[in-house]
Amino acid sequence: MPHPTSERFFSPVSLGSIELRNRLVMAPLTRIRADEQGVPTDLMVEHYAQRAGVGLIVTEGTWPVGEGRTWIGQPGIETAEHVAGWRRVTEAVHARGGRIVMQIMHGGRIGHEAISFTGRVVAPSAIAAPGQIRTPEGKQPLPVPHPLSTEEVSEVINQFVQAAQNAIAAGMDGVQIHGANGYLIQQFTAAASNTRTDRYGGSAENRARLAVEIAAAVAEAIGSERTGIRLSPQHNVQGALEEDHDDALATYQALAEGLAPLRLAHVDVLHPEPSAPLVQTIRQASGAPLIANTGFAAPTGREEAFSMVEQNLAEAVGVGRAVIANPDLVRRWQQGLPENAPDPATFYIGGERGYTDYPTYSTGEHH
Ligand SMILES: Cc1cc2nc3c(=O)[nH]c(=O)nc-3n(C[C@H](O)[C@H](O)[C@H](O)COP(=O)(O)O)c2cc1C
Repeated sequence: MPHPTSERFFSPVSLGSIELRNRLVMAPLTRIRADEQGVPTDLMVEHYAQRAGVGLIVTEGTWPVGEGRTWIGQPGIETAEHVAGWRRVTEAVHARGGRIVMQIMHGGRIGHEAISFTGRVVAPSAIAAPGQIRTPEGKQPLPVPHPLSTEEVSEVINQFVQAAQNAIAAGMDGVQIHGANGYLIQQFTAAASNTRTDRYGGSAENRARLAVEIAAAVAEAIGSERTGIRLSPQHNVQGALEEDHDDALATYQALAEGLAPLRLAHVDVLHPEPSAPLVQTIRQASGAPLIANTGFAAPTGREEAFSMVEQNLAEAVGVGRAVIANPDLVRRWQQGLPENAPDPATFYIGGERGYTDYPTYSTGEHH
């Protein structure tokens, strides 16, 4: 029996200056297939080109500077080689009529001196995150980071601006600032990882300030209509804990109010309940179109994605694992076709297996 489709889900929408053909946004997905210097590879060009039929691709988290690198094999957007490598990706996606923005990710304290190129790992405060990280010498405990001085925070803002300009030079349609998942920006937002006493710590407004200042500086440099941000309120991962609900609401309200005058192209909010006040407050207070992504446990599915758009809970839906496994997911969801299952064992291993070799439906049919 054919599943009912969703006209609205497959209708165009504008996120700032970017017109999407449909509401299916490929969520940012780290896959560790860049070379050792962080330069995009042929395999990455192919992977993104295969998925160009989605409304918008958000790239994997990409480091603005070596000091913001979290994983070996993660791409960067710092050097001329990075820009040239990403240009091949954007050209391949655009040639297929797709749209692509780069997620700029500074890992902050989720890093290691042995992979940061500067011998330093930075964060709001000298508090190590729990857990371990992969280094050339094997897994190591996450280090105690260098606490950024107020002046050094300004340098980080400039690094995001330069990275955004580099992304545009590489042909990106825009950028997404990674303010989620316990990386540098959320290390500032979350009280558990931020014990600063300057204007970037303490009150909800102060902890939200870095996100707002980075967004403002990037928007000024490349245009607000090409600038978005990802947030994950109360995701509570990697020690960036926001366990007090009232404080989280106040912090994200302050953050969204700070974004409002910028008129950003999108906010992408990762939260299990898109109808929750935390999510809709960010949407309303910022005034930006919302990309909602619910996936924590089960991968985002077709009916769920349709209903989020049909109920006007979001302008578009971020889809991660289903896009990993189905390069032609738009067609499959349009026609209610069966889907390939994602293989988590190949998410971070490098190489083409589980990356560029998932079949489209027409090849799958011939089995
Ligand atoms: C392999 C993998 C890599 C990811 N890498 C990133 C990333 O670089 N940046 C980010 O913001 N989220 C990242 N995420 C989170 C996804 O964007 C998304 O929020 C998550 O997969 C839930 O959506 P889903 O249920 O549709 O998969 C990653 C998730 C997976 C599974």
